[in-house]
Amino acid sequence: MSLTDYFIRKPEFDMFAMNTADLPCAAAIHKMRFTPSWSDGELHALLVQNTVFGFVARQSNAGSRPVTAGFVLARVAAGEAEILTIGVDGRYGRAGLGWRLMQAAVREARSKNAETMFLEVDETNAAALGLYRKLGFLKVGERRAYYQSAAGARTAALVMRLDLA
Ligand SMILES: CC(C)(COP(=O)(O)OP(=O)(O)OC[C@H]1O[C@@H](n2cnc3c(N)ncnc32)[C@H](O)[C@@H]1OP(=O)(O)O)[C@@H](O)C(=O)NCCC(=O)NCCS
Repeated sequence: MSLTDYFIRKPEFDMFAMNTADLPCAAAIHKMRFTPSWSDGELHALLVQNTVFGFVARQSNAGSRPVTAGFVLARVAAGEAEILTIGVDGRYGRAGLGWRLMQAAVREARSKNAETMFLEVDETNAAALGLYRKLGFLKVGERRAYYQSAAGARTAALVMRLDLA
């Protein structure tokens, strides 16, 4: 698949800078995709920090009730960017929205003079690993037994890095 295809798959969605009005939708998506999930208030506490920014994937021509299908939160400090969280509503999954959210975060991080971007991902999260590898992230570290599933299984967190310079 060519990179431009990601823009053709869901053309009715655009990436918008995230603001506090987006928090209820973002919290609902986080709840769908993560256990434990982050509340509206926890997301708010991050978004209001001046080092933190986010984007939402939202329908651009849908009248007064546009669907928000995903969001990303990231931080830039001292030349280093970090993805704090990213989630896409499963009903809109595998349609390029995660890729476009990550592209928006990478672009914004570059504009804030970040030279590298880091993230952590569960070694068993095939979708996220596929997305990050496609964007050029490489594994640079591993935290063993970092995550624990509801059933008690422990899995490693992979630390991944993308050079932005
Ligand atoms: C990871 C996530 C954000 C991807 O979002 P998405 O919009 O579905 O991803 P995209 O459609 O942009 O996919 C981009 C690439 O990622 C990979 N990918 C996405 N979903 C995949 C899946 N289910 N299985 C394998 N690879 C997948 C593929 O390489 C895909 O490219 P392709 O469709 O051209 O093959 C989404 O699955 C999600 O919200 N997961 C739950 C939350 C989560 O795990 N967040 C990351 C925590 S580190």
